[in-house]
Amino acid sequence: MPFKQQALLRQKLFVLGSLAIGSLLYLVARVGSLDRLQPICPIESRVAPHLPEQFPLRTLQYKRGILHELRKGNATKEQIRLHSLVQQLPRAIIIGVRKGGTRALLEMLNLHPAVVKASQEIHFFDNDQNYARGIDWYREKMPFSFPHQITIEKSPAYFITEEVPERIFKMNSSIKLLIIVREPTTRAVSDYTQVLEGKERKNKTYHKFEKLAIDANTCEVNTKYKAVRTSIYTKHLERWLKYFPVEQFHIVDGDRLITDPLPELQLVEQFLNLPSRISQYNLYFNATRGFYCLRFNIVFNKCLAGSKGRIHPEVDPAVLAKLRRFFHPFNQKFYQITGRTFNWP
Ligand code: A3P
Repeated sequence: MPFKQQALLRQKLFVLGSLAIGSLLYLVARVGSLDRLQPICPIESRVAPHLPEQFPLRTLQYKRGILHELRKGNATKEQIRLHSLVQQLPRAIIIGVRKGGTRALLEMLNLHPAVVKASQEIHFFDNDQNYARGIDWYREKMPFSFPHQITIEKSPAYFITEEVPERIFKMNSSIKLLIIVREPTTRAVSDYTQVLEGKERKNKTYHKFEKLAIDANTCEVNTKYKAVRTSIYTKHLERWLKYFPVEQFHIVDGDRLITDPLPELQLVEQFLNLPSRISQYNLYFNATRGFYCLRFNIVFNKCLAGSKGRIHPEVDPAVLAKLRRFFHPFNQKFYQITGRTFNWP
């Protein structure tokens, strides 16, 4: 056979071989991800009211695979009709707290086959202009989902904004509310760090944390400083409790979500009446990032953006101690109201 023909044949064989290996790898990936979704225990006994018994989660996950495809490629009207996709109002909202780990919580919950996240913070209830646009505007901001899935959104400003509890109550008085908290002083420093980084990006100077957190006239904690006020969790929660019973809230330990996320996520699954589907397989520690990252299947995993998990500036230990003393009585009240106690100082 002439050399040119031989080369052509080799080229064809190479292309065919690559295709075969590619398909094999794809099949292994699919089977791997489906295997993970085999129910560990019979689903029938654990399904939530909105997940009908005859609707196995494996099917749900399969359908969710299509969903991702559709969302990536901008679903056409025909595809939406064909797969009965809907834009649903959220059945649960992560209302705060800013810098508590709200993004990590949303992304981790999104690992659950029955959960669909609204990727952006919608700011519907805290922004008067958005709120005036009406509930249909809000619904249109929601991702497409299958009717049996639940949509979750997060906008941490909800927790501290005066008008929000009443507005959410008017939309759905039985909605489930998630609040993720961290030790209040650490959260305040994290809040400061985010603002500082924003200023530095614009080449602006900014005060030191100590100057903002302590009133120079009284030498006491400056309760006018927003990062301090946001960390007085009980004050904000009390406003919410005028509209919703305490059972409608679930408190997530943001410090534990960093170090050992699975148990926290399992508690949320229970609260949302979802069968337990997020497993250790879905979470792996990335030493470079210093945080847990997410594994959806053997081919798709991701860590949170670099803006999550910033290095905090050093703060005068005396100021930190003063803040911790200041938050102590508010924390006690928060434990009492929520029934969840933390090892905060
Ligand atoms: P720091 O940047 O202070 O470390 P939010 O999403 O509400 O803004 O919260 C940000 C915080 O989420 C980060 O605060 C970080 O500590 C925390 N976090 C929790 N789990 C994380 C994860 N897996 N990856 C990155 N950050 C995580």
